[in-house]
Amino acid sequence: MKIAVFGTGSVGETLGSKLIDLGYEVMMGSRTAHNEKAVAWAKKAGAKASAGTFADAAKFGDLIVNATLGSGTVEAFKMAGEDNCAGKTVLDLSNPLDFSKGFPPSLFVSNTDSLGEALQRAVPKAKVVKALNTMSCLLMVNPRQLPDTHHTFIAGNDAGAKDQVKAILAAFGWKPEEIIDVGDITGARATESYLPIWARLYGSLKTGNFNVKIVR
Ligand SMILES: NC(=O)c1ccc[n+]([C@@H]2O[C@H](COP(=O)([O-])OP(=O)(O)OC[C@H]3O[C@@H](n4cnc5c(N)ncnc54)[C@H](OP(=O)(O)O)[C@@H]3O)[C@@H](O)[C@H]2O)c1
Repeated sequence: MKIAVFGTGSVGETLGSKLIDLGYEVMMGSRTAHNEKAVAWAKKAGAKASAGTFADAAKFGDLIVNATLGSGTVEAFKMAGEDNCAGKTVLDLSNPLDFSKGFPPSLFVSNTDSLGEALQRAVPKAKVVKALNTMSCLLMVNPRQLPDTHHTFIAGNDAGAKDQVKAILAAFGWKPEEIIDVGDITGARATESYLPIWARLYGSLKTGNFNVKIVR
């Protein structure tokens, strides 16, 4: 399977490298064709890795991972082109963080809307699944580095797309019982709203190496 990873930050790199390790072909997308970070990542990651624009990557990928800055996410998918995204599953791990007033950040959309929904509206023919946005990227791709069971959430409108995302999460090391389905894409309102708590915990614990465990 070919995967597009939108984003040249630490999350794009971490997810891209893990997907390469798992045997996928990965194109890292950015706003420009020869983004320095994307080209350097592709060189380091080997023959199955490449770099291009968001549109190049969207055309290339059977599935798209969105790891762009929250405030640039809709713009990135507009640049990718609606038709290039049509029919494809989008694993969206972005967060609508606003750091304009420093740390901790606030959310620039919340409560009655979410970034996941804004993205779904921007690419209506794609199948957006919000997932993995509630933890550090190192935990996303290596959940077993914590010594206990812990949980991640998925939200999206399409059952088949959720299954595709669950398969990728399983390849990362997530156990089926650790993935909790919180409903359609409006569930992104809830998972994105966890970020203020995550940020406070990060401030208190002085590490990003933690996650939630749901106990029933
Ligand atoms: N850090 C974590 O562990 C963590 C955990 C959970 C979720 N997240 C979320 O993951 C996402 C990526 O985080 P990150 O720190 O790796 O990278 P980032 O700095 O938030 O985003 C970098 C990417 O966003 C693109 N971008 C920035 N402004 C844009 C705009 N106006 N239009 C289109 N694209 C734009 C950049 O494009 P260029 O390549 O062209 O510069 C780049 O590819 C964020 O939404 C973050 O909240 C992060």
